[in-house]
Amino acid sequence: MAIERTLSIIKPDATARNITGKIIDKLESAGLRVIAQKRARWSKADAEAFYAVHKDRPFFGDLVAFMTSGPIVLQVLEGEGAVAKNREVMGATNPADAADGTIRKEFAENIERNSVHGSDSAENARGEIAQCFSEEEIVG
Ligand code: PPS
Repeated sequence: MAIERTLSIIKPDATARNITGKIIDKLESAGLRVIAQKRARWSKADAEAFYAVHKDRPFFGDLVAFMTSGPIVLQVLEGEGAVAKNREVMGATNPADAADGTIRKEFAENIERNSVHGSDSAENARGEIAQCFSEEEIVG
């Protein structure tokens, strides 16, 4: 399988509970390598731009409010089949549906406060990485 890159975000519910290390441990244990990382606090405009694809969904306002409610940790992850592997380690969007051992099963509070984001395709990963990191910030 090809070496890929994907964008990961540790969300405000997880930074608030000081569990970023526990989440990174799960990512690294699955074979994903953190090749860029930064902590940030998104403005409303940042979150609206990142989630623009969801702008017509009923939860858009709640999602933007949540993602701007506290610090986040943005990461580029690299590894074999990184997009699918990260989605597997994250688990289903709603923690009630997430498999045992996944990040969301273990740490997510509910469908909104679900601890992590991961790109859903290689193409979207390229766009999200370019949106969040400069080339110089990525050290493979
Ligand atoms: S996914 O993972 O993209 O297939 O899931 P999807 O259902 O399309 O959800 C897209 C993002 O919206 C978040 N979401 C919600 N936020 C707040 N309230 C409700 N009800 C809700 N439902 C979904 C979900 O966590 C996804 O965020 P990201 O950051 O992309 O994981």
